[in-house]
Amino acid sequence: MYLDLDGQGARYAQLIRALKSAILDGRFAAGARLPASRALARELDVSRNTVLAAYEQLQAEGFLLGRVGSGSFVANVGSATPQKRSANTLVAPLSSFARRALANTDGRRIPGHQHSDLRYDLQYGLPLANPLLGSVWRREVSRAAEHVEFDYPDAQGLLALREQICDYLARRRGVPAAPEDVVIVSGTQQAFALAARVLLEAGDTVVLEDPHYRGARQVFAAFGAHARGCRVDNEGLVPAALPSSARLAVVTPSHQFPTGALLPLSRRVDLLDWATERHAWLIEDDYDGEFRYGGRPLAALKSLDRDGRVIYIGSFSKALFPALRLGYMVVPASLREAFSATKWLEDRGCNALEQATLARFMADGGFERHLRRAAVALRARRSAMLSGLRRHAGDAVEVVDSNAGMHLTAWLTRASHADCERLVAHARTRGLGLYTITPYCLKQPPRPGLVLGYAGLPPADIEAAMKLFGKCLQETGLAPSR
Ligand SMILES: Cc1ncc(COP(=O)(O)O)c(C=O)c1O
Repeated sequence: MYLDLDGQGARYAQLIRALKSAILDGRFAAGARLPASRALARELDVSRNTVLAAYEQLQAEGFLLGRVGSGSFVANVGSATPQKRSANTLVAPLSSFARRALANTDGRRIPGHQHSDLRYDLQYGLPLANPLLGSVWRREVSRAAEHVEFDYPDAQGLLALREQICDYLARRRGVPAAPEDVVIVSGTQQAFALAARVLLEAGDTVVLEDPHYRGARQVFAAFGAHARGCRVDNEGLVPAALPSSARLAVVTPSHQFPTGALLPLSRRVDLLDWATERHAWLIEDDYDGEFRYGGRPLAALKSLDRDGRVIYIGSFSKALFPALRLGYMVVPASLREAFSATKWLEDRGCNALEQATLARFMADGGFERHLRRAAVALRARRSAMLSGLRRHAGDAVEVVDSNAGMHLTAWLTRASHADCERLVAHARTRGLGLYTITPYCLKQPPRPGLVLGYAGLPPADIEAAMKLFGKCLQETGLAPSR
């Protein structure tokens, strides 16, 4: 049984949230029998008491019916769900999309923003803070404002920005694109949502790498798609493990999210063949393709797309800052009209002032200067993390060194999933924010892992954080042997 534990707080509370979501979502139908507590505890690698406590609480709240000696059954909660999210949800009849959206996001924002009490937060997704960029951006916005047109912008995006993006993609990512192939969007998240609207019917199968980016899973689940995981090894997605049919697959070939693997050319070719033969679409999420610190740079998958099956997505969230909410898609010619029309209906186009600012910033070389400086800062943070892990965690972790991006994945070599939970909880009491890989997985991975973000802290803090990490390993009985 697949349950998405979100890694926040006590395990029994996570299990309660996951079971409620599944019931509200309709994945567990009324009358369905839940697994025996012992079996579920084994599957989730938690104690049986954790499962019993969750089942009891759900019975008390009316989500489950218990029959002595015959197990727990899902109650008929109907469409007017008893979960009190807000006063409005009790009176408003919500669409099935809204119900799925609520069930899949839990109303949560990026967790990193909730932990300001931590001394060192290794949350993935925290941006590289750069005060210089703030003042440069302020100046660029005010310059662009002098020339901005007041009418609605082209919904596909300002031509000047689309031209800059094409130039950038050709030089840095090997992607040949013309401005008419590009749609400017408010980040990757909107690109996923547009792709769902344009390409999916409820019930269609969407393939996700396992592990994968949660933002993608949440959008496609809200649209009623059925997510299927595809195995990932240390070279990235395993094409032989792709299902025999699917409507689309979301892939991160340049830097598998979150394991960091770089998909080799032969697998890229197999993946494209799979899509062509099945008339499936590939969504290439090139989320941090700007930052490589050595090793072989591979052009984006889109550069090999002879049959027009790849929808390429780039974002300025990592390259600049996530608050900007700007990204872009390069869509095959056959889908151009559909994406433009959908974007027009959705929001009439992205903010013209921000687009014009970015176009100027790219045209006058400021963007690439910023990328060079950011890469130097990130490289120093990454080195601090790698050497700190070597020194303080030794063979207790196995690090996937992918020479790219803003995070590392560290597999715990001698710990169970329960040990990993203990480590995370203990680290929090010591002011260190650690995050497990589990929320990014459809299926529990064979080993526990941590996703360690390094963009948000300067090197000295990362060194201190790694020292504290080593102490936490010792204090939880997971210390390295050398
Ligand atoms: C895998 C992945 N894709 C895309 C994004 C960027 O999303 P957005 O452009 O919506 O900010 C992120 C950001 O953390 C990410 O981790």
